[in-house]
Amino acid sequence: MNSPADNPLDRILVLEMVRVTEAAAVAASKLIGRGDEKAADAAAVEAMRKAFDTLYMDGTVVIGEGERDEAPMLYIGEKVGGAPGKGPKIDIALDPLEGTTITAKAGPNSLAVLAASAEGCLLNAPDVYMDKIAVGPGYPDGIIDLAKTATENVTAVADAKGVRPADIIVCVLDRPRHAELIAELRGIGCGVVLIGDGDVAGVIAVTDEDTTIDMYMGQGGAPEGVLAAAALRCVGGQFNGRLAFRNEDEKARARKWGIQDFDRIYTRDDLVKGDCIFAATGVTSGSLLEGVKYRRGGTMTTESVVMRASSGTVRWIKGEHKVG
Ligand code: FBP
Repeated sequence: MNSPADNPLDRILVLEMVRVTEAAAVAASKLIGRGDEKAADAAAVEAMRKAFDTLYMDGTVVIGEGERDEAPMLYIGEKVGGAPGKGPKIDIALDPLEGTTITAKAGPNSLAVLAASAEGCLLNAPDVYMDKIAVGPGYPDGIIDLAKTATENVTAVADAKGVRPADIIVCVLDRPRHAELIAELRGIGCGVVLIGDGDVAGVIAVTDEDTTIDMYMGQGGAPEGVLAAAALRCVGGQFNGRLAFRNEDEKARARKWGIQDFDRIYTRDDLVKGDCIFAATGVTSGSLLEGVKYRRGGTMTTESVVMRASSGTVRWIKGEHKVG
C-alpha cells in the first residue's frame, strides 16, 4: 500500500533517495586522500544537485550548503526535484559531504547524507554550533537531559543499563572546547571515544551495539544535529540539542529562521516531526557504512542505508556500479 494522501513521503521516494546520496558519495570518492576539502565538497554538491532532478518531487532545501549568497548550489531555500509545482512537497536537510576534512585526509566515517520530511517538519537550523547529547534505543523517555551535568547523565544511563558509570562509553569530538567535558567523563571512569570529525556518524553510533558506544556528548554543527536526529527518529534513541551562538551575527541568522528562544533544549522530536526519511552513503569506511571502493575490472561498490520513521524499516543497500 502507498502512504496516506496526507503523507507526501511516497515509499518509492524512500528508495530513490539512495540514488541521491550514492551520486554524491561516488563523486566525492574520487577526491579521497587528495588533500582538497573544497574540491571534494564541490564534487559531492554538484552530483547531489543533479541527482535530485531525477526524483518526482517538489523539494525545498531547508538545511543545506549555506545561504543563497554564500552557496552556489543546494543553498537554503533552493528548489530541488524534477517536479516543481506538481510533485509532493518535501523539505530536505542535506550534507552532500559530511566530513570534508576526513575525505581529504582519507580518514574514517565521511558520508553523503540527507533527511526528508513533509513541508515544515524539520527544524530550519542555522549553521551555528549545537550542544548535543544522545543515547541509543531501549531507555526510558527523558533519560538524558542537556540541562544536567555530564556526570548526572552518565549515571542515569548507567543505572538504567545496570552497570557502573565507569562502564559507559561516550563518543566526543576531539576538540579543545571539549577538554573539560572529557576530563569530567574520564574523572568518573568512562571510556571516551574521540573522533576527529563526523558527528552524524558519531551520534548514530549510539544506536549500534557493535560500536560499544553508549552515549554521544559535545558540541558540533547544528545542521548535523538535525540530520542525526532524523536517523534516531527512524531507528529509536534519544537526542537533546541546544543551539550555541558565538556572536550576535549568529543570533541574527537564527532569528531569520524564526528561532526566538536561544536557550531552548530541543528533543529529537522537536527537531524532526512526523514521518521522515534518512539516507546516507559511505564515502570513506567507518562505523556506519563501508566507503566507495574501486574494484578491478572497472567497477566500484557503494554501501548505503535508508530508513523511514513511520515504518521503522532500515534497508542496507550495496551497489555495484560501472566506473564512469
Ligand atoms: P564538515 O563536513 O563541514 O567538515 O563537518 C565535519 C564536522 O566534524 C561535523 O560532523 C561536526 O558537526 C562539525 O564538523 C564540528 O565542527 P568543528 O570542526 O568546527 O568543530
